[in-house]
Amino acid sequence: MSSRGGSGVWAVLVAAGRGERFGADRPKAFTNLAGRPLLAESLERLEASDWVEAIVVVAPPEWEEPSILLAEELGAGKVNAVVTGGETRAGSVRAGVAEVPETAAVVVVHDAARPLLPEDVLERVVTALGEGWEGAVPALPLADTVKRAEGETVVETLDRTGLYAVQTPQAFLADALRRALAGEAEATDCAGLVEASGGRVRLVEGDRGLVKVTGPADLDFVEALLRPES
Ligand code: CTP
Ligand code: MG
Repeated sequence: MSSRGGSGVWAVLVAAGRGERFGADRPKAFTNLAGRPLLAESLERLEASDWVEAIVVVAPPEWEEPSILLAEELGAGKVNAVVTGGETRAGSVRAGVAEVPETAAVVVVHDAARPLLPEDVLERVVTALGEGWEGAVPALPLADTVKRAEGETVVETLDRTGLYAVQTPQAFLADALRRALAGEAEATDCAGLVEASGGRVRLVEGDRGLVKVTGPADLDFVEALLRPES
C-alpha cells in the first residue's frame, strides 16, 4: 500500500475513556497538556498527516460538543464525525468504525492518550499493509527484564526474547477490522481482536516518544518532550 491521502485511509481517534487511573475531574482526553486538551495534540497531527484522508473522533459521553468545538478551533476539516464511545475500548472502536464508509480501504485506530504521534509511524503502519498482512502495529522490543509476580512475590522471570510493547496507531484493512469487531469480543488493543479472528498482524518500528498518558507523571513527561529545546 503506497498511496497517500485521498486514498481511503480513515483514522478512528478513540478518546472516550474515563481516565480512572489519571484521576482528574474530567475525562483524560480533556486534561490539560501545554494549555490545550490532551486530545488536541493527536487530532492536530492526524489532521496534518499526508496519510489520513478523514477522521472519526470517539468522545466520552457528554463530551461530544466540546470535541466538535475543539475540532473547529483546530480547523480540523478532516473530522467527518464525532460519536459517543462505549463502556470499553473495543466498544468505542466499534462506534467509531461504524462511521467509516464502505469505500474506505484502510482504518487506522489511534489512542488520544498517546499525544505525540509522529508522521513516520503513520507512514510505517499504513505502508506495511497488503501482501498478506491485515494489520500493522508499532512495537518496541522490551528492554527491561520481565517478571511475573503474585502480589509482591516473584514467581518467574520470563525470557524477553520475542516480547514487544505495542503502541498505536494501528492500521488495518477495513474489512479485516470490521470482521474482528463483529460480535462482542474484547481486547486491550485492536490488533488483539484482528489476531483472534485469524488476521495476520505485522510489527513495524514504534517510537519511544509515543508514550501513553496513564497517570499525571506521564503528562509531565510528555510536556517535557513537547517543550522546544533551549
Ligand atoms: N478508550 C475509549 N473508550 C473506552 C476506554 C478507553 O475510547 N471505553 C480510549 C481512551 O480514551 C484512550 C485509549 O482508549 O485514548 C486507551 O485507554 P486508556 O489509556 O486505558 O484510557 P482510559 O480508559 O481513559 O484510562 P483508565 O483505564 O485509567 O480509566
Ligand atoms: Mg482504560
